[in-house]
Amino acid sequence: MAQLWGGRFTKETDQLVYNFNASISFDKRFYKQDIRGSIAHVTMLEKQGILTKEEKDQIIEGLESICRDVENKTLEITEEYEDIHSFVEANLIDRIGDAGKKLHTGRSRNDQVALDMKLYTRDEITHLDSLLRELMEVLLKLMEENTETYMPGFTHLQKAQPITLAHHMGAYFEMFKRDHQRMRDIYKRMNLCPLGSGALAGTTYPLDREYTALLLGFDGPTLNSMDSVSDRDYLIELLSAMSTIMMHLSRFSEEVIIWNTNEYKFVEIDDAYSTGSSIMPQKKNPDIAELVRGKTGRVYGALTSLLTTMKGIPLAYNKDMQEDKELVFDAIDTTKGCLALFTGMLKTMRFNNARMEESAKHGFTNATDAADYLVNHNVPFRDAHGIVGRLVLYCIEKNIALDDMSLEEFKAISPVFEEDIYEAISMKTCVDMRNTIGAPGKNAMEAVIRAERQYLKEQPAL
Ligand code: ARG
Repeated sequence: MAQLWGGRFTKETDQLVYNFNASISFDKRFYKQDIRGSIAHVTMLEKQGILTKEEKDQIIEGLESICRDVENKTLEITEEYEDIHSFVEANLIDRIGDAGKKLHTGRSRNDQVALDMKLYTRDEITHLDSLLRELMEVLLKLMEENTETYMPGFTHLQKAQPITLAHHMGAYFEMFKRDHQRMRDIYKRMNLCPLGSGALAGTTYPLDREYTALLLGFDGPTLNSMDSVSDRDYLIELLSAMSTIMMHLSRFSEEVIIWNTNEYKFVEIDDAYSTGSSIMPQKKNPDIAELVRGKTGRVYGALTSLLTTMKGIPLAYNKDMQEDKELVFDAIDTTKGCLALFTGMLKTMRFNNARMEESAKHGFTNATDAADYLVNHNVPFRDAHGIVGRLVLYCIEKNIALDDMSLEEFKAISPVFEEDIYEAISMKTCVDMRNTIGAPGKNAMEAVIRAERQYLKEQPAL
C-alpha cells in the first residue's frame, strides 16, 4: 500500500478497503496527461515565485524521465500505489528527493484528476473527430460515384419510391456530420482548465490560473472552484454524443445485414470483414455489422450509468465520481473501434448495382410517378391514385412490373395513357424529376455533394 496520506491515521487501511478504493488499475491510462498537468503546474509555480527555478527544473526533468521510462517500459505502473497521482509523485520523490515533495503545492487530487480526465477526453475527442471525418470521406466518395445507381427507397421496410445509392449514403452522411459537429461543440464547451481549484475552495497561494490554462491549451480557467472539481457534464455530453454515433452505426449495420442476405444480395461484404461458421461451410456472416449493432448497448449503458451516479451527489467532490473513468474509457474505446471497423467494412464492401436496380423496378416504386402522369393529364389526384391501384393489382395478378404492360393494357384501365407513359415511369425519370433540395435527382444530389465537399474542406483538424 502506497498512499499520499496517513498522518492522521493510527491504523493501517484494511486490504479490502484499500483495493476497493484504489483506482490505479484504470487511471494509469492517463499517466501522460497527469505528467503534462504537473509540468504546467510547476512552471506556473515558478513564475509566481512559489518555487525556485532550480526546483522547477529538477521537478520537470524528473517528471519527463518518469514519462520516458513508462513509455519505453523500463518503469512499470504497479498496483501498489493508490492511484496514478500517487505513483507519479512517489516516483518523483524517489528520483529527485526533497524538491519532489513540493510538486503538490497549491493543488489537490480533486482538481488534478478533474484536469487529467479533461486532458485525456480532449485528446480522445480529436481521435473521434478524425474517425468521423474518415467515415464521411468514404461516404462522400460513394455518393460521388453513385448518383445514377438506382435502388429502392423503403418505408416500413416496404419498397416505396426509387432513389439512388448516392442518396441513401447521403442520409448517413448527414447523420455523421451532425455527430461531427457535436464533437466540436463539446470540445469548445469543455475547454476550460480546472487546475488551481484546489480541493474545492481554491488556494491561498497566488496561483496564476490563466497562465496554467494557457500552457495546457485551454481557452481559460473555469470560474467556480466547487463546480470545477465536481463537474462531469462534459463526460455526460460526450457519452450522449457517442451513444448517438453508435445509434447511427447500428442503424447502418442493420441495413448492411439486410442487404447482405441471400434474399436481398444488394451488397457483398469483403472476406476480410466477414467470418465463417464452424459447422456450415457455406456461411459468410456479417459479424462486424452485428457486433457494432450489439455494442451500442454498452455505450448507452455508460451514459445511463454516469447520469445515475451524478444525480445525488452534493457539492463538491465525492468519491462516487471516481466511477466516471472505467465506463467512459470503455465507451470511448468501443465507439472508436466501431467507427474504424465500420469504415473499413464500408470501404471494401461491393454493391450489386444491377440487383438493386432490378429490385427497384419490381416493387411498383414508380406507382406514384404513374399517378403523377395522370395528374399532369388533368386527372384529379384521388382518381389517379385509384387508377394506378388497379394497374398494380393487374400487374400483381400477372406477376409483371408496370413497365412490362403493353399500351393496350394501360389503355384498358385508363384511356388517358399514351406512349410517353414508359418514359414517365422509367427509373431515370422517376429519380431525376425529384430535384428539390435534398431529393435524389441527379442535379439536386450533385449540388449537395458539392456543399458537403466544401464542408469537409473547411473543417480544420481539432
Ligand atoms: N481517484 C480519484 C478519482 O478518480 C482521484 C481523486 C481523489 N480525491 C480524493 N479526495 N480522494 O476521483
